[in-house]
Amino acid sequence: MLNPEEEIRLIREEILPGFQPPEPRFLIPILQEIQARLRYLPLAGLRIVSDYLGMSAAAVWGTATFYSQFRFAPPGQNQVKICLGTACHIKGGEAILESWERELKIKIDETTPDRAFSLERVACVGCCALAPVMAVNDLIVGKSSPISVKGVILKSQIPNKSQ
Ligand code: FES
Repeated sequence: MLNPEEEIRLIREEILPGFQPPEPRFLIPILQEIQARLRYLPLAGLRIVSDYLGMSAAAVWGTATFYSQFRFAPPGQNQVKICLGTACHIKGGEAILESWERELKIKIDETTPDRAFSLERVACVGCCALAPVMAVNDLIVGKSSPISVKGVILKSQIPNKSQ
């Protein structure tokens, strides 16, 4: 995991030079490359991109936030994903999400201060028959319930440092 100074150096020295000449048409490919390397878009990095492309910070921010593929908080060591596709929503996905929010003391799209966990919502993950579904890293948990959240943490042997 890079510190903020290293993230900026990577953007300036390794990513931006690959997009020549600096033109607004490269905005999305640059954002995708930053996210591929850092797994998120740091705000300081977006300012550097706006300077590089000669675009306003508002335009860069507006584009980045338009697309759901981009995230603005660093992902946690453990990524918790709650399916809120139609089948999972109907079967109580929102209640499971709320249980995770209570357990981790964060909201959706946030990361715990120690970066141990991040919480995301996802659309259908392709196993609707098991709805409601949640995933912790590569572990898919079907037929889940709000009270199963603590059990999933224990079963996964994931340290919950937020407690
Ligand atoms: S809607 Fe959740 S797995 Fe399909």
